[in-house]
Amino acid sequence: MAETRTRYGDAVTEHLADDRPVVAVANRLPVQHGDDGWELSPGGLVTALRPVMSTHSGAWVGWDGGAKGMPATLPDMDVRLVPIGLSATQIRNYYHGFANATLWPLLHDAIEKPRFERAWWYSYRDVNAIFADRALAALAEEPGAITWVHDYHLMLVPQLIRGRRPDQPIGFFLHVPWPSPDLFARLPWREQILAGLLGADVVSFHTERYRSNFVRACARLLAGSGIEVRGTEIMLPDGRVVATTASPISIDAAEFTQNATAPGIDADIEALAEQFAGRTLLLGVDRLDYTKGIVERLLAVEMMLERNPEYRTSLAFLQIAMPSRDNVREYRHLRATVEQHIGRINGRFTEPGNDVPVHYLYRGLSQQHLAAYYAVADALLVTPLIDGMNLVCKEYVIVQDARDENGILVLSEFTGATGELPQAILCNPFDVEGLSYRIENGLGLPAEIRRAAISEMAAYVRKHDVHRWVAEQLTEIATRGAKAAAAAAAREAG
Ligand code: ADP
Ligand code: F6P
Repeated sequence: MAETRTRYGDAVTEHLADDRPVVAVANRLPVQHGDDGWELSPGGLVTALRPVMSTHSGAWVGWDGGAKGMPATLPDMDVRLVPIGLSATQIRNYYHGFANATLWPLLHDAIEKPRFERAWWYSYRDVNAIFADRALAALAEEPGAITWVHDYHLMLVPQLIRGRRPDQPIGFFLHVPWPSPDLFARLPWREQILAGLLGADVVSFHTERYRSNFVRACARLLAGSGIEVRGTEIMLPDGRVVATTASPISIDAAEFTQNATAPGIDADIEALAEQFAGRTLLLGVDRLDYTKGIVERLLAVEMMLERNPEYRTSLAFLQIAMPSRDNVREYRHLRATVEQHIGRINGRFTEPGNDVPVHYLYRGLSQQHLAAYYAVADALLVTPLIDGMNLVCKEYVIVQDARDENGILVLSEFTGATGELPQAILCNPFDVEGLSYRIENGLGLPAEIRRAAISEMAAYVRKHDVHRWVAEQLTEIATRGAKAAAAAAAREAG
């Protein structure tokens, strides 16, 4: 990562006035159909990619989420939306099955047991072929475009596109961790997945550790296939070279600053301040996912309430949980577990005549509403057992800084973000008791130290925002793609 930054320097954003169109290929389109019409799709990928699509032309190829009548474009965006419809069987086998019950747990260090089913794998192959076909059609309409494939749902797509467009610059970005080679080796279709990814010119990860895990997996599991690893590059037997990079994703810091100061937010903030008046507010904001450490967080709060009777009336913990993947049994189970813990804690520790200590919202909120919660929270608890990056913590420090607040960020050392935000109160969520002490100690820090930490973290996020990430990524793909095409032409000529 440092190497990439030095190479491109601060001029990188202007450099990607490299105005080439982008064909982004991701499982989800940036919008989905909700109760109130078209709304933003959930999760970090969309949060991160949305700004790209307002600064580049091209297309975004993705699953329509089952909604009909998808608009062809969105306000503020220059890209065409290319919706893909999937059958109920494909959704069950490719999305709920292979993507979310095989790959998701496997790539997240198998903290839930990955399930391996052949029917899911066949469906994953079929659906990847559909995405590749649609991306190729979109590319035909966007001369000179860069192809940018995203995430674990679509790991076969780079190879499928490469097979039909040998000269096409292709980048792949993985939004989740890549585990150790020993763990990845459990996947029955490991060679196919690696070969799929090696169709790209550039394969990128959030951190150096994930990048190096991937390269080691290639060296070990594709040994004998004629590949050779040289530093961060992988040489293929056909002469192609695949670059690997570590490039942490970020947020649109300017947009979150704006959300934090938008007209109307003061009223939201006042209402929340009134609701939690006289209490220290701890906040959790996550998709309801077993990687996020929500149960460990609740148990840590329970320990704090147990140890400190005064907290039962002076502290509130609010968990905002975005519904996610509730067709997958592990997620349904998690929801029931979380709700059970909340019921038990409130049953044990609500003082008669007082408000409950644990508050819970199971829903998505608008960005402005979320910003109001970030603004009033005295602490944000980001405690994943493992998380590729985590954008919520970056959003929190930007909003806190914009409002001149001095909240604390309690951040799991098992998130990609931890390497970028060392001023946070780092924690190990597997040690629940330790976590409860970390929160308590953090709350006791002097206001000026907390303020300085927020301000330093926000300055870092502003400098390394998502526009910089996009520019770095697209520049790398364009450069590598051009180099590969020149090398291929030279091989052919010679
Ligand atoms: P992941 O990609 O695993 O969901 P991230 O932390 O990287 O995790 O990104 C989550 C994104 O989803 C953030 O932009 C966050 O603001 C958004 N988000 C999380 N919970 C909610 C919610 N309840 N309502 C609206 N947005 C949410
Ligand atoms: O961050 C990982 C990820 O899978 C992203 O691709 C997506 O933004 C988010 O989680 C939400 O997941 P889903 O699309 O399954 O709701």
